[in-house]
Amino acid sequence: MKANMITIAELKQKIAEIKSQLEADLIQNLAKEELRIKFLAKKGLFNELAKIISQVKPSDKKETGQLLNEVKTEITESIEKSTKSSSDSKNKWVDLTAPGIKPKTGHMHPVSQAMEEITQIFERIGFSRSRYPEVDWDWYVFESLNMPKNHPARDEWETFFIDAPTDKKMGKVVLTTHTSNGQVREMERLESKPPIRMINIARCYRRQQDATHTQMFHQFEGLVIDKGINIQNLKGTLDYFAEQFYGPGTKSRIRPFHFQFTEPSLEVDFSCHICHGTGFLDDKTETPEDQRQKCKFCKSGWHEVGGAGMVHPNVLKAGGFNPDIYTGFAFGWGVERTYTLKEGLNIDDIRLLYSGDLRFLEQF
Ligand code: DAH
Repeated sequence: MKANMITIAELKQKIAEIKSQLEADLIQNLAKEELRIKFLAKKGLFNELAKIISQVKPSDKKETGQLLNEVKTEITESIEKSTKSSSDSKNKWVDLTAPGIKPKTGHMHPVSQAMEEITQIFERIGFSRSRYPEVDWDWYVFESLNMPKNHPARDEWETFFIDAPTDKKMGKVVLTTHTSNGQVREMERLESKPPIRMINIARCYRRQQDATHTQMFHQFEGLVIDKGINIQNLKGTLDYFAEQFYGPGTKSRIRPFHFQFTEPSLEVDFSCHICHGTGFLDDKTETPEDQRQKCKFCKSGWHEVGGAGMVHPNVLKAGGFNPDIYTGFAFGWGVERTYTLKEGLNIDDIRLLYSGDLRFLEQF
């Protein structure tokens, strides 16, 4: 072997050196153009290395050629993959007086915003916000609300039961199906001393899932108890809420219904903000009756939001109040449902609220 002959092992060593240089430069984030000049240009490191071919044994020439080809492809690919180009390298002129790029900031989830707004609306007329357990005894969720064990009315609340020991008086443990569990709890908290003006906002759970129902949702529950509370106080409160939450001119409407825990019981509707409660988009003085255009948002002029009524004497008794002296009203609605009816929102699938999709959430 001639004195200046190079072996395959030495060649491999040189290849390893070039590769580690390239790796270091990539970590340093050198621009693509700089890397191309350093490694692949005519006088670049690769061509320097390739000259070696004249110094290997004729029998090693084939393998040397293959190794050189491989390393060239590797270098080229690594440089192409590197992301930095000289246009964003440090030589680029930077305008230091330009305003910075604001980091993205989050905001309250739309449902939290709605809960906040609802709380403030009721606090302005003397209600105070309470929160009660979301995993509660059957007693508070059903029995104290005039729904004895095995009463068929319980079926309406698609209940999740917790696998826990049953208490003799309190019964089973359930995930709260409505915020009405707060009624008797609030009466107990205030030791049956009126006045009570409670707004209870909490999560509720039911075995249900479609475009207008989610298994977890929120309700807000109002409860007012004092001497002489009557249905007019309830109607006044509903009208007040309608105007505050949906805007001036929004009206409330009550219709007879049935709940075990209220007597009388009512369903509550709010007038549609698009057709203003008329059910039609055009003016009745201008368009003949049979040609009028129906409001697609509500179909009838009204949106149903939830239930209400005068607190049933048995519920007052369960909370330690004498129903011959005290009366009260209560109401309970879904936060999500109430919120999606707001003007301009047009959310037709309630599940979107819990999708975690930023494209949706960023709009609020
Ligand atoms: N808890 C009822 C439900 O989930 C709603 C409700 C109706 C609440 C009437 C009330 C009420 O306080 O008085 O469907």
